[in-house]
Amino acid sequence: MKGGTKLMIVAVIVTGLYAWFGNSIPQSAWDAPKKKVLTPDMTPKKLAEEGREIFRKAGCGVCHSITGEKLRGADLSRVGAERDAETMAFMLYSGTDVMPAANKPPANLNDSEITALIAYLQSLGGKPKVKIGDIKPPQGMGDVSSAQKPPSQKEAGK
Ligand code: HEC
Repeated sequence: MKGGTKLMIVAVIVTGLYAWFGNSIPQSAWDAPKKKVLTPDMTPKKLAEEGREIFRKAGCGVCHSITGEKLRGADLSRVGAERDAETMAFMLYSGTDVMPAANKPPANLNDSEITALIAYLQSLGGKPKVKIGDIKPPQGMGDVSSAQKPPSQKEAGK
C-alpha cells in the first residue's frame, strides 16, 4: 500500500472515531434530562439508580462531588446519613442564591425525578428510603410559576 493511501485510511478511521466519541458524550451538562418513566412500584434502591443518572444529567456534579472533594457546593458523599428526605426536598425545590432549584431551568426536573434524586442522595452514606409519591413539593414550590422564594432561604443558603 502506498503511503498516501495508508494515510487516507488512518485519517478516515480517526475522523470516524472522533465522530463516534463526540456523539457519545452528552451535549452539555445542563441539558434537560430525558424523561424516564418512574413508577410508585419501583423500590427505593431502583429509584436511587435512576436518581444517579438524573444527578449526572441535571449537572449537579458541576457543583457537588460525591467523593469528598469540595466544589462550589457541599460534598454529598455523606448527605444520606446527615439529612432527611424533607430537608433535601426543601433544598432542591427552593434552591439557594448559588444553586438553581431543581424543578426550574436548567434542570427542570419533575416531582418524580426529584424523588429519584433524593433516593440517590439517601444512598450516599445511607440507605435509599423514598418511593414515588413520598416527596411532595414544599408549600407553594411545586409550580414553576410560583417562583417566589420563602424567607427561610437565607438559612438554607448559609
Ligand atoms: C451552581 C452550583 C450548584 C448546582 C448546579 C447544584 N448545587 Fe446543590 N448546592 C449548591 C450550594 C452552594 C449549596 C449550599 C450548601 C453549600 O454551600 O454546600 C448546595 C446545597 C445542596 C444540598 C444540601 C447539602 C447539605 O449538606 O445540606 C443538596 C442536597 C444539594 N445541594 C443537591 C443538589 C442536587 C441534587 C443538584 C442537581 C439537581 C444540585 N445540588 C445542583 C450549589 C449547587
